[in-house]
Amino acid sequence: MAEPVIIGSERSEVGLPVGVEVLRRGGSALDAVEAAMRRCEDNPDDHYVGTGGLPNARGEVELDASVMTGSDRRFGAVAAMRGYPNPISVARAVMERLPQHCLLVGPGAELFAAENGFARAELLTDDARRIWRGQLTEAGQRAGDSVEGENTAAVAGDRRYREAALDLVRRLAPHEGPWGTINIMALDTSGELCVGVSTSGYPFKYPGRVGDSAIPGAGNWSDLRGGGAACTGRGELSMRGGTARTIVDLLARGSEPADACRLALADTAALPDEFRAELRALALTPDGRHGGAAGQEGSVYAVMTLDSTEPELHPRVAL
Ligand code: GLY
Repeated sequence: MAEPVIIGSERSEVGLPVGVEVLRRGGSALDAVEAAMRRCEDNPDDHYVGTGGLPNARGEVELDASVMTGSDRRFGAVAAMRGYPNPISVARAVMERLPQHCLLVGPGAELFAAENGFARAELLTDDARRIWRGQLTEAGQRAGDSVEGENTAAVAGDRRYREAALDLVRRLAPHEGPWGTINIMALDTSGELCVGVSTSGYPFKYPGRVGDSAIPGAGNWSDLRGGGAACTGRGELSMRGGTARTIVDLLARGSEPADACRLALADTAALPDEFRAELRALALTPDGRHGGAAGQEGSVYAVMTLDSTEPELHPRVAL
């Protein structure tokens, strides 16, 4: 049996020590992933997950998350969910308490969270609101139009709003600094391999937009016959590429994790796409090998084993 290990994408370092502690105590990969991801979601300085996540074009934080276990390919997910700070836990609850379904969205996900005792919270922090307002103002100035901060929300639903929101989505890029969804995957002493993904989605997205993080086969896949894989970056590409599933299929056919990630990203890189097209992938095998790839140089992922005192950063291969 392979040694337990937990790995994660950029900025998962905040949560991995919590997850590896679960594994040290003999806990499950699912418990480790959930615990580690919750810590990331609760970090208000991270503007791409949970509390503090950057909002949609109307200034509302909408969260997507999913969890999948490789022994049975059980999958649970929520998407476009507002007002609940730990979507990874709601996704797990969908998987365990509502097994006739895999994915709940919007008001249905919020109803399920309320009925299952999750506490509501304000997710839009002052810092995230300031970044959003700044982006709206800058975008409006760049376009020479009159879109200004919350005035956009004031006319939500009408034709002008929809046109402005679409235009913003076309023009806005993530702000500088490490950005993106968080992937965390763990292997436990029983050999279970769990993959978790959580995100506030593409910043300033069109309201209701769901990315790959909640979509099985796109942003998340786990199957002990090959391994686990997950993506960060522009989820529309991994949805079009079936990227996480493609990586696991390549692992099952004998590819090494970094090669499988690189090949799957190369497939999406060939897609016609006029928008920012950055995508990253991460993979872990049932015998504990791991690797990652990215569309740009300098991207890393973090690893902890039972002996680790802190997360160790490993380079991803660049396309
Ligand atoms: N990869 C996260 C998203 O596109 O929302």
